[in-house]
Amino acid sequence: MPAVPGGEATVLWEHAGSVVERLFGLHLQGERLPDLKRSLRGAASELGLSDAEACARLLVSEKLDDAGVEILASHLTIGETYFFRDQEAFAALSAHVLSELIEQRRRTGNRQLRIWSAACCTGEETYSIAIQLQQLLPDIANWQINLLGTDVNPRFLRTAAEGVYGQWSFRGTSPDFRARHFRQLAGGRYVLSPTIRRIAHFASLNLADEAALAGMRDGDFDLVLCRNVLMYFTSAQASKVVEALHGSLREEGWLAVAPCEASQTLFAGFRALHCDGAILYRKGPAPDRHGSAPKDAGIPAAMPVRTHPAGTRAAHEASLRFPKPVTPLPAPRRATPPAKAQEAALPVKAIAARARALADQRRMDEALACCDRWIAAEKLDPAAHCLRGMILAETGNMPEASAAFERSLYLAPDGVMAGLALANLERTRGREKHAARHYRNILALLERLPPDADLEHAEGISVRQLTSLVRDLMVAGDHT
Ligand SMILES: C[S@@+](CC[C@H](N)C(=O)[O-])C[C@H]1O[C@@H](n2cnc3c(N)ncnc32)[C@H](O)[C@@H]1O
Repeated sequence: MPAVPGGEATVLWEHAGSVVERLFGLHLQGERLPDLKRSLRGAASELGLSDAEACARLLVSEKLDDAGVEILASHLTIGETYFFRDQEAFAALSAHVLSELIEQRRRTGNRQLRIWSAACCTGEETYSIAIQLQQLLPDIANWQINLLGTDVNPRFLRTAAEGVYGQWSFRGTSPDFRARHFRQLAGGRYVLSPTIRRIAHFASLNLADEAALAGMRDGDFDLVLCRNVLMYFTSAQASKVVEALHGSLREEGWLAVAPCEASQTLFAGFRALHCDGAILYRKGPAPDRHGSAPKDAGIPAAMPVRTHPAGTRAAHEASLRFPKPVTPLPAPRRATPPAKAQEAALPVKAIAARARALADQRRMDEALACCDRWIAAEKLDPAAHCLRGMILAETGNMPEASAAFERSLYLAPDGVMAGLALANLERTRGREKHAARHYRNILALLERLPPDADLEHAEGISVRQLTSLVRDLMVAGDHT
């Protein structure tokens, strides 16, 4: 057979991709090969290897020890998460799932709840549930709560156990959330209150490890969250995981996945329920082909909401609605970063979107590089400088972050988010007078805007909400 140019390297990378798939279930072949190479480049420098290829060789030699596998996991996984990520899902979990479970357990006198947040990353998802439980259970001390967060990345788990977060973790929350549940530390970080931290615990669990999954099968969990991870797996791996999650749930237990992961095929063993814009899955007999549920479930597809006695399971489920058929789980679809050359050819808008997406995924080095390209293309865009400041603050580079926010404010003096970020930075540096001046400016700017308007790049936070946050912050610093 004629030699294929670059054939040896191709074989090496295909082999490395298949080892990664076996070890972690992650699909990093084909169009995602650049992601694999980037990750192995990062792992190589930590393993003392010359480059990504050397790391790929070590990987396929199967000589990686446990510590090496941990390093690899740390570089291959994506840590995009934040508190109450997907507000609709959390609202549905609180209003329909947790409330129902609590009510039912109170009735039977069995004050226990078992919840598993699989692929919990740095813990924001798990603690979001802990916060909801604390709100729903005034007598939480009398309950036996097992709230477990697991992940394959040991570094993420360490952050989760510490409960210390940067600004980026709060991007999906209402303004007073941080003030209520966290205490500010030096360097712009925030530590979660011990009362909430105590509710959750964390452990290492690789969803591609069949023995570990088997250990969870008799779990008897009431609720499992497995969000934004199945999409990174091969479909065979995703099926194995879903089967194990099914086994880990008690009958009528709930499963929450991300909306983009919804799939009739993959979750065939569950009933799918649309609930206030979120999809939840429930263990139990699936509806038949005509969309009606089996008799014992008592929930014909189009049942009017109020025909069931209040408080029954059927009443509860009828208040949700069956979803339209959803398409099968799409092929894993993490965006493949375009090569630098391709990126240079992108319109500025696309570069800006990419910088935001990279920051969302906490790929901060890449986000910063992309943001710099954005600034190179459009030096006077205040949003670019503001994002740069956010990224720098997240990576702990406060002086440069501060300069970036100043630049953003210089270009757009009415920039509320840059002003707020700068005020918070000033506070962490102990410069209360400067912070106060920025807070006052922000309040003056907000007064000129309609209270219900959403602020740009503020994760759906309204003018009214931000006004109340800034007032709280001023009270906290005694600047009223
Ligand atoms: C994008 S984050 C999702 C975090 C959180 N569930 C959420 O939705 O915000 C994906 C997480 O899956 C984890 N992960 C990837 N492969 C895994 C595996 N084989 N076993 C367990 N966790 C894995 C990563 O470490 C990362 O924390």
